[in-house]
Amino acid sequence: MTKDKREIARRPDKAPMATAWDYAPAPEARDIVKVEERYGLFIGGTFVEPASGERYTTIDPAREEPLAEVAQAGKADVDRAVRAARDAFANGWSNLRPSERAKYLFRIARLLQERSREFAVLESLNGGKPIRESRDVDIPLAAAHFFYYAGWADKLEYAFPNRKPRPVGVAGQIIPWNFPLLMLAWKIAPALAAGNTVVLKPAETTPLSALLFCDVLRQAELPPGVVNIVTGDGRTGAELVSHQGVDKIAFTGSTEVGKAIQRTLAGTGKRLTLELGGKAANIIFDDAPLDQAVEGIVNGIYFNQGHVCCAGSRLLVQESIYETVIAKLKRRMATLRVGDPLDKNTDVGAINSKQQLEKISALVQSGIDEGAQIYQPPCKLPERGYWFVPTVFTNVAQSYRIAQEEIFGPVLSVLTFRTPDEAIEKANNTPYGLSAGVWTEKGSRILAMAKGLRAGVVWANTYNRFDPASPFGGYKESGFGREGGRHGLEPYVVLEDA
Ligand code: NAI
Ligand code: MG
Repeated sequence: MTKDKREIARRPDKAPMATAWDYAPAPEARDIVKVEERYGLFIGGTFVEPASGERYTTIDPAREEPLAEVAQAGKADVDRAVRAARDAFANGWSNLRPSERAKYLFRIARLLQERSREFAVLESLNGGKPIRESRDVDIPLAAAHFFYYAGWADKLEYAFPNRKPRPVGVAGQIIPWNFPLLMLAWKIAPALAAGNTVVLKPAETTPLSALLFCDVLRQAELPPGVVNIVTGDGRTGAELVSHQGVDKIAFTGSTEVGKAIQRTLAGTGKRLTLELGGKAANIIFDDAPLDQAVEGIVNGIYFNQGHVCCAGSRLLVQESIYETVIAKLKRRMATLRVGDPLDKNTDVGAINSKQQLEKISALVQSGIDEGAQIYQPPCKLPERGYWFVPTVFTNVAQSYRIAQEEIFGPVLSVLTFRTPDEAIEKANNTPYGLSAGVWTEKGSRILAMAKGLRAGVVWANTYNRFDPASPFGGYKESGFGREGGRHGLEPYVVLEDA
């Protein structure tokens, strides 16, 4: 540690001292994307006024400024959207030649690439995530998902050998606010590839990229009604879930709402996949490449402000390297730049909403109250907007709320272990089971750990890495069903004997 850094660490409440290495502002131009004053609902290939007559304002969480007026779809609106999807299903989409369906998906993928800067800026404006992440992760991965499933559209018989796959029908899809366009792609691409039609509800705080996506659908000349977008809050989602005309529900969001949806659908025969929360263990063994591991820890928990269901929010460090890892981690945390999401140098952007900021603050307070030790690097936050300083807790007991509950913010809880068995036991000691990370030089240990960890995804010597060809999903309270890969097609096909 340099002398300056030690000085800063001793004065954590003070703003960092200006150094010769400060970054100059590097803002991305926001006028590349045109935000309308108000939006309707995208039903049957056009924007229509909501029958509910209700609207709300969607904001920029980094500035607390309004961006647009968005429709709050009611029962009649959801009904109209489901009917449009049903008509489109019956009138051609479901029996279109698969290679023709693929062409539309390829077009959508290419258009997303062409308009990627627009989408990246909009995603950061409406959601608060750093432009570096929306530009380099969210938008390219969204396009990659459409490319990937475009490839499957005319090869479904090979995905399911000796079976005859046919589409399920109308899919109702409800997505969260942490990866708005990417979650849209995860949901829509496999559904369309398999010949289904869609009614999708974006999250209430981040509707704008889904609404811009409607313009991509227009450019791609997708037949009207194949994709319908209805905006609104949980009430709109609940209408979609209980609508008789929907054959399948796909949901990503909180475990609480996932359970409620499962109760509503019990006995209806509707299909359901749930991708819910997580409390993943990121496990560091003493033979791991430590500097690389520290990068993985930082990426695991501070990526996207920690608004990540598979975030590595519980760090499990082998006892013998504990001091070293924590010292390296604190030093690295002090270099994270928190601030304007549209600045290309920003590492940690704005918290998505006031509500989420309150949840994070309350859980962090519980950690302090229960006796954990908090560390936050010195950090000057903007005056307006929703922010939370990257945080790490040490002296954490497994029973603390910060070790058990999903915080969904930039907050890491550190635990220690001695043996691989103890690491597995502690890692699995959670109601969730979405993901885990293992850092070690030994290949055999990676395999043994992956076998013992009850998690849908286990990353080895990396973290938060995604690929459309790789299935993603959870165990236990993290949900069921898989998205991505060939597995991701399964929920969208009925398999008949060939
Ligand atoms: P949420 O589960 O309420 O929202 C997710 C989506 O579900 C949104 O589109 C919302 O409008 C919709 N929704 C809400 N109530 C519904 C209902 N009764 N029926 C149908 N749809 C409904 O999540 P929220 O309140 O935004 O976040 C709370 C916590 O949930 C977060 O702090 C985080 O821990 C967790 N979460 C997990 C996510 C994940 O990726 N697994 C994503 C978002 C939140
Ligand atoms: Mg909620």
